[in-house]
Amino acid sequence: MVKIAPSEITPEHVYLNRRHFMVGAGSLAVGGLALAACGGPRAGAQSQSAAPAAVQAAPPPGDLPEALAHAEPYASHATDELDDPLNQYEEITNYNNFYEFSTDKEAVAKLSTDFVTRPWTVTVGGLVNNPKTYDIDDLLKKFTQEERIYRLRCVEAWSMVIPWVGFPIAELLKEVEPKAEAKFVKFTTVMRPEQMEGQKSRLLDWPYVEGLTVAEAMNPLAIFATGMYGKLLLPANGAPLRIVVPWKYGFKSIKSIVQIDLVDEMPISTWMQAAPNEYGFYANVNPEVNHPRWSQASERRIGEFGRRDTLLFNGYAEEVAYLYDGLDLRANF
Ligand code: MTE
Repeated sequence: MVKIAPSEITPEHVYLNRRHFMVGAGSLAVGGLALAACGGPRAGAQSQSAAPAAVQAAPPPGDLPEALAHAEPYASHATDELDDPLNQYEEITNYNNFYEFSTDKEAVAKLSTDFVTRPWTVTVGGLVNNPKTYDIDDLLKKFTQEERIYRLRCVEAWSMVIPWVGFPIAELLKEVEPKAEAKFVKFTTVMRPEQMEGQKSRLLDWPYVEGLTVAEAMNPLAIFATGMYGKLLLPANGAPLRIVVPWKYGFKSIKSIVQIDLVDEMPISTWMQAAPNEYGFYANVNPEVNHPRWSQASERRIGEFGRRDTLLFNGYAEEVAYLYDGLDLRANF
């Protein structure tokens, strides 16, 4: 099913990693404000022609590791493994949920332009045999960066198809060696209110925190993303390091990570804490488990008119359903 051999079009060490590849790829009230983990798309953002105007300058290719050095937005394929077309670079970089900057999706790109992503260190600790602090550029060199074309499904029922560049979370975990008693991985976003205006407000309990079970984090689909469309990530998309967990609602895919801890108790994530009855720890995409205030049966793909059916585990059931054997997905939403 692969249309073009990755070796024909990508540097040797960047290989296509889609599903057929892999074996071969709300709201809550805070001081009267209605918030959602992912605000719904606005009418204008749903058509290709209405792509938001503010397009950020891409980082200069000269600063990029070879694997990411594309001067223009680059993806090895035009569709995902379900033949859904990729969203445009402009859509993905100008329609963002990143509450540290703004609750207005179309304002995040502009407000995050000056966010400083170098130097940047990521500390991995807790219940591990080899605690480590990595410089981001060492992480980029140490782990082979590969392309992953994934659907991103927001809890508020919009979605995109995004060609990420990154590496499996499992690769990093293998290096630090989780101890037997480690059951969860906790991720924490940088706390930098002087550069992130939203962190000056009490909208959420900063810094943003998310978590996965160790088994989820070890699944080959779970990645750290460092780039997108063949370029380093822009701040709006979570530069310099975020996770992408494509079978879960988008709020699990925490951005701008500085701390990773292996822990024995389930971390209370930011959205669980803000609205425990609306956002659970698992947050698996599931058309049959509705948000308390809206249906999850269908979604709107940014750039398309109309709605499409929501897929169980966002279409990745074959790869991830085993993680939830015996778990009541309704109770563990
Ligand atoms: N990470 C942090 N630190 N802060 C956030 O507000 N928003 C989440 C997630 N990661 C968020 C975050 C939500 S709700 C979604 S849908 C995705 O990021 C959006 O990712 P994108 O802007 O790259 O599409």
